[in-house]
Amino acid sequence: MVKSGKSALVRAAAKARQQAVAPYSRFKVGAALLTTSGEIITGANVESASYGLTCCAERVALFNALTAGKRNFVAMAVVARARGGPMPCGACRQLLAEYAPQAAVWVADTRALHALKAFSVRELLPSAFVEVPKDSD
Ligand code: THU
Repeated sequence: MVKSGKSALVRAAAKARQQAVAPYSRFKVGAALLTTSGEIITGANVESASYGLTCCAERVALFNALTAGKRNFVAMAVVARARGGPMPCGACRQLLAEYAPQAAVWVADTRALHALKAFSVRELLPSAFVEVPKDSD
């Protein structure tokens, strides 16, 4: 991936972050997924008064992409005002392991978008549970 591709994806995540609905935490997060065909699909976190119903930016972006028929991903960028960039939570790591296992995950602080940290999904969630055994009863 060339540098400009990375920065375009990070900028898309930063733009998506502006649409976050985070009245409780006030912590706005944006995410952007790059498909193998070069499309960018975004999402932002949405919170609920019933806090546990909150959905992270990463999952909103992933659900948005999956329900648009996209299945193959190159990378996901995640942006928030967080030192070193926001690290995806366990639930998002699980969904990434299932639906975007080959994707690079780039995280960045809004104040330093060029200073990406890069992870593989495998390193974020080693030994993931990604398939229900067929012979269970
Ligand atoms: N959040 C995300 O959207 N992504 C992350 O990687 C970390 C946490 C959201 C969920 C909630 O709306 C807020 O940040 C505070 O936890």
